[in-house]
Amino acid sequence: MEYLVKSGSPEKQRVGCVVVGIFERRKPSMQAQALDQASGGLIASIMRRGDMDGKPGQTATLHGLDKMFCDRILLVGCGKERDFDTRAYIRACRTAAEALDNMGGVDAACYLTELNVRGRDDFGWQVKQAVLAFEDVFYRFEDCRGSDYEKHSRKLSRVVFQVPRRSDLPAAEAGVSEGSAAANGIALAKNLANMPGNICTPTWLAEQATALAERYPDIETEIMDEERMAELGMGALLAVARGSRQPARLITMEYNNGANNAKPTVLVGKGVTFDAGGISLKPAAAMDEMKYDMGGAASVFGAMQAAAELELPINLVGIVPATENLPDGNAVKPGDIVTSLSGQTVEILNTDAEGRLILCDALSYVEQNYRPDAVIDMATLTGACVVALGEHAAGLFSNNNPLKRALRDAGNTVYDRAWPMPLWEEYQDDLKSNFADFANVGGRKGGAITAASFLHRFTRKLRWAHLDIAGVAWKSGADKGATGRPVGLLVQYLIERARAAA
Ligand code: BES
Ligand code: MN
Ligand code: ZN
Repeated sequence: MEYLVKSGSPEKQRVGCVVVGIFERRKPSMQAQALDQASGGLIASIMRRGDMDGKPGQTATLHGLDKMFCDRILLVGCGKERDFDTRAYIRACRTAAEALDNMGGVDAACYLTELNVRGRDDFGWQVKQAVLAFEDVFYRFEDCRGSDYEKHSRKLSRVVFQVPRRSDLPAAEAGVSEGSAAANGIALAKNLANMPGNICTPTWLAEQATALAERYPDIETEIMDEERMAELGMGALLAVARGSRQPARLITMEYNNGANNAKPTVLVGKGVTFDAGGISLKPAAAMDEMKYDMGGAASVFGAMQAAAELELPINLVGIVPATENLPDGNAVKPGDIVTSLSGQTVEILNTDAEGRLILCDALSYVEQNYRPDAVIDMATLTGACVVALGEHAAGLFSNNNPLKRALRDAGNTVYDRAWPMPLWEEYQDDLKSNFADFANVGGRKGGAITAASFLHRFTRKLRWAHLDIAGVAWKSGADKGATGRPVGLLVQYLIERARAAA
């Protein structure tokens, strides 16, 4: 899809479809009023007949507009005007995109971006959110269909987002480029995560990193094999990999666009390409969804690509420990004790708590090899986090308050939200082991926090944050599919880092 920005009156647009908002009850937006006048009261009559009240989710399409330059008008219900906040705005954009997805006509002029959204004061934000919402709706995963499958064909190929004044155009242009880059990163993360475990193996993921480096000259990739991991002493990561016939990989992606001396931001993503639980085998129900256990890794790929596409003047490193977690005669067993790269020993009481085992070695590797500005890890780490926060917010843990605040703010800006959780020392007691330095699981209580506290034992010297994305990385049920979260949050954070450094 091509996205453009313009400033001009709705009644003058020579396009397949003009999109305007209607508030509740039957209250046309300014842009709808302009169309109503030019059409001789068409919108008022549609509302009078009861076809459009302005309720959220409602749409009405007007055809046969002989007095108009446009072929169609799409009315989009926006809810009550005084309640028109971020959530309502995104809902309206999604509703418009869903209607346009199935419409004839190759182009559209969208005026939803001219609406005032509560708490937002620059129209660049509206444009960026519109691009993100449209691209999220337009996304399809069609790579695994058979030869007779008919791919979704969309007539629409160009959307012009309108802003009120010419002076809004620079911000709107930035909104398109930032929104498109983030959306492309999100789509990449969705594609990787939706790919089934028989295709998306650690080796395949590593190949995708190599492919990313081929597409973007500013990205360099290095793949570490198990032999090298053993030399370095990554006993925790290798313990998880033992049960799999697919060899583990540690993927490093480095992006640098002229910011050679700047301390890097390091993103670390859990890359368990399938998590059966190991010897502590998971129950069968919904186990297929454990192909999404590399959602953290996918978000690293997405954020790296977006940074490269935007040519952000930053130094960015992506680290992905990738492995399967399967039961096998050679698999790690409950009670086994392993030595992590940090030198600390871990008693593996539950082989299903594997994410922290692969992440701890990746985090120690970061500590040993980089002098980072900040290290952020993303992981579908605990079912407990889903219990705590549901599917709307990622769990946000950090040993650094400014970093925690920056990530939370970035998430709020792009509506890819994270919510703070504690990392208090008291929780460390839960990880006590009678035989090793500590265990890989605590009790049933506060499972998301004990998992984060485990990671904290490897990140004391780092400015570090951990996002538990178990509840947000994918959707279950009829809409089962990857969400691409938290790529939006990460890209926003990186954009702001670049802005602060400039
Ligand atoms: N990948 C899972 C976490 C998960 C489970 C995410 C379900 C989303 C939905 C992780 O590896 C895991 O199995 N965690 C265990 C930890 C427990 C053994 C302490 C969990 O959450 O049950
Ligand atoms: Mn697990
Ligand atoms: Zn897992």
